[in-house]
Amino acid sequence: MISKSLTDDKIKPDSSPKQEAKEVLHKMDKNDSIYSYAAPEKDKVKVKIKLSDEKIQKIEAICNAFNNEAGELINVLHQTQNAFGYLPAEVQEVIAHKLNVSTAHVYGVVTFYSYFTMIPKGEFPISICTGTACYVRGAEKVLDEFKKQLGINVGQTTADGKFSLSCLRCVGACGLAPVILVGEKVYGRVSPEGVKAILDNYREK
Ligand code: FES
Repeated sequence: MISKSLTDDKIKPDSSPKQEAKEVLHKMDKNDSIYSYAAPEKDKVKVKIKLSDEKIQKIEAICNAFNNEAGELINVLHQTQNAFGYLPAEVQEVIAHKLNVSTAHVYGVVTFYSYFTMIPKGEFPISICTGTACYVRGAEKVLDEFKKQLGINVGQTTADGKFSLSCLRCVGACGLAPVILVGEKVYGRVSPEGVKAILDNYREK
């Protein structure tokens, strides 16, 4: 369990305890129960995080596996994202307390590295390779067509939660450029005209 108070850390330098409490009251999952613990007496607020006990235990287990060392933050975030698919504010809060670092520090690392995301991925995550070989063979036009067909930008997920769009660097299949991935399935020599057929495969699922 977390013993350190949330309000020991500053989400925003000038925020009041009440504002801080508001910051962490984001919804994560309809099925999540409320996990709460008291802020210090002086703050007179009770901070609640919407995370299931199961999820909290999972995060704590990951932190424990790295001896709760602040220097292991990136490894902890990496494994946590592998487990949950993304790193919402509530998850960052738990990690910050376990590793005894500020929530601002965790947020800074999450937002600095493009690998980490605070947005849940779609059921079928689409990744467009924008490495050099793919780029010179038209990856940008393929990307534009995915954006158009899905009505989302890179880093976003469709409203039905089915597709999300991201870019990545060379996946080692340059001979097939331009390359895209849907989940772990690789599609090579993709043209803008072929985008609809690829999406239709998954729309029917
Ligand atoms: S640049 Fe896209 S697979 Fe190598």
